[in-house]
Amino acid sequence: MVTVSSVSVDVVERFRALWRSLEKIGRDEETGGYRRHGWNGADLECREWFAEEAADRDLELRVDGNGNLFAWWGDGDDAVLTGSHLDSVPDGGGYDGPLGVVSALVAVDLLRERGHTPRRPIVVATFAEEEGSRFGLACLGSRLLTGAVDTRRALALTDREGVTLARAIAATGGDPAEVGPDPDLVARFGCFVELHVEQGRALVDLDAAVGVASAIWPHGRWRFDFRGEANHAGTTRMADRHDPMLTFAFTVLAANKEARLSGAHATMGRVHVSPNATNAVPGQVTAWLDARAAEQSTLDQLIGSVTAKATERATRDGTAVAVTAESVTAVVEFDAALRDRLATALGGVPVLPTGAGHDAGVLSAVMPTAMLFVRNPTGVSHAPGEHATDEDCAAGIEALAATLEELACR
Ligand code: GLV
Ligand code: MN
Ligand code: MN
Repeated sequence: MVTVSSVSVDVVERFRALWRSLEKIGRDEETGGYRRHGWNGADLECREWFAEEAADRDLELRVDGNGNLFAWWGDGDDAVLTGSHLDSVPDGGGYDGPLGVVSALVAVDLLRERGHTPRRPIVVATFAEEEGSRFGLACLGSRLLTGAVDTRRALALTDREGVTLARAIAATGGDPAEVGPDPDLVARFGCFVELHVEQGRALVDLDAAVGVASAIWPHGRWRFDFRGEANHAGTTRMADRHDPMLTFAFTVLAANKEARLSGAHATMGRVHVSPNATNAVPGQVTAWLDARAAEQSTLDQLIGSVTAKATERATRDGTAVAVTAESVTAVVEFDAALRDRLATALGGVPVLPTGAGHDAGVLSAVMPTAMLFVRNPTGVSHAPGEHATDEDCAAGIEALAATLEELACR
């Protein structure tokens, strides 16, 4: 098994050196969190960093029309795709995404130095806007590449300032006409293996540095638009109000309760209030529900129940609520043969499911995919406290190198 004690100081040092070259980009000095969002300045800097690292390694860089970057070691078909993403949630941690990209680059270095020449190309990818932090749709780059989202719908998505995806791409030198599925490129990949920091504490409990993923829970994002009547905070009698904040507040509590009763996860972490004035009853509240569950039926029931409760409460508040599914992802069972092959090749590492979404989940619709997880001592993720020790990261790199060797070099 790949263990921390079997990892050499050299791999730890290599990881640290490459990590240091990336870690300042897009980090907010005050919060310590990252603000790398699709096509913003920090995201473009990350892409430049990736292009330079690819060039330093003589990997041929190809960019698809969707802002996904691919660094090829070797040419031909049936390539083994690896990598992850470099964007973050607002004030996110540094490991979610970048750990998979950095690990893939160091794994390529190790394979080369150990004298391997792949018989299938090895391709390191960074996928665009995986978090959906700017345009609201998670895994945007991989969804566009595989045709899992309608191109016209995607181009019309807007960020918080009303900038469309089409405009953001054009403003940063891309061509919106090039956006969309690329089946020829997809057909050149034989499988995808994404290494990722674990976003919970399962590996801590199992006392293992590295694990293999079995499945991703069904999950999605639902937008709740609560409409009421804006009015004066001091003069409007309580009985005369149509306050959408009340309906929203009730909905947050209902979602939390329903999730706890059913063993699901529900979060309302983003809210927009209009006019957002201290001395005015709001006229409109828009909030997003992120919900996930092990079973699709549990998730469906949760959404149905929260919607019904919000609607019933709106009637009492004299408000209205409209619910829109912005993205819904069914359960992903990773390729069983690939999963078992990796778990065995890595010496019997634990196999575990996750509640987090990943590009590997989207790509699993078009090729066999697998994921490796690296232990996260606190389990914190999507926040500045996200962490993995350098030694565990090096263990992850060794596991990924062994995986790529197994899949591409034998
Ligand atoms: C991605 O990290 C997600 O699960 O939201
Ligand atoms: Mn994430
Ligand atoms: Mn991620």
